[in-house]
Amino acid sequence: MKTLVIANQKGGVGKTSTLVHLAFDFAERGLKVAVIDLDTQGNASFTLAVHKSGIAASSLFGAVTPFDLAPIDNIALIEADPRLADLEKLDLGKAAEAFSEAVSIIESRGFDVCLIDTAPSLGIAMASALLAADFVASPIELEAYALQGITKMNATITAIRRKNTKLQFLGMIPSKVDGRNPRHTATLADLQAAYPALILPTPIGYRSSIADALASHCPVWEIRKTSARAATKEVRAMTQHIHDKMEIA
Ligand SMILES: Nc1ncnc2c1ncn2[C@@H]1O[C@H](COP(=O)(O)OP(=O)(O)OP(=O)(O)O)[C@@H](O)[C@H]1O
Ligand SMILES: [Mg+2]
Repeated sequence: MKTLVIANQKGGVGKTSTLVHLAFDFAERGLKVAVIDLDTQGNASFTLAVHKSGIAASSLFGAVTPFDLAPIDNIALIEADPRLADLEKLDLGKAAEAFSEAVSIIESRGFDVCLIDTAPSLGIAMASALLAADFVASPIELEAYALQGITKMNATITAIRRKNTKLQFLGMIPSKVDGRNPRHTATLADLQAAYPALILPTPIGYRSSIADALASHCPVWEIRKTSARAATKEVRAMTQHIHDKMEIA
């Protein structure tokens, strides 16, 4: 099983949209996908509600006893619950150990991939997820405030990699890009120059059909609007790129 965390401590940059589309796309490929929602906002749990497993994400941080996990249409959701808010009181070492153990249990249930959504904060949940994962990817917006976070995110990933040497940073996914906004175009060019290996070649435009999809519990390719076609093309290019980079068997 390959484990991917979607993380950026900046809020509203497209993390959950990316995660949900990866889950739908991978499931369509016939892969068994476990999704862990570590954000008390529960946005991924909302969009993927029909895939609920009945297991609460906060339970993965305590004394973990083996649990069963059965996918519905290839996706099993370990849903966000209010107790995730209490994780910050835990010792990171113990929380991370329990969480890694839980990920091994998920792997033993025959899942091919585990996708983890995180809240926009650098806390125990995000650190535990990064310590257990094989890969991390960070959606970014091309706005000044969003860019301030990149250095911090890179520093966090570098620090975690000292303890989890298998962790690979797949890179940053430019999201909600407005191609008609000269500031976005210029910022994207600057970023590509500054971090040539870290900006994914598959940006996602600002597309209202993506928000429609998240609200309608489906991927953007099921939205019946002409404008969903361009969004679908971009999102499929992103999921294909990540799929290839993860070398999922
Ligand atoms: N490419 C896009 N075009 C237009 N709207 C988008 C796009 N991607 C996401 N959105 C919308 O922007 C908002 C934030 O997106 P999303 O929830 O994916 O971000 P997030 O990083 O997970 O946010 P948070 O940090 O709060 O968890 C949502 O309302 C979503 O519907
Ligand atoms: Mg989110």
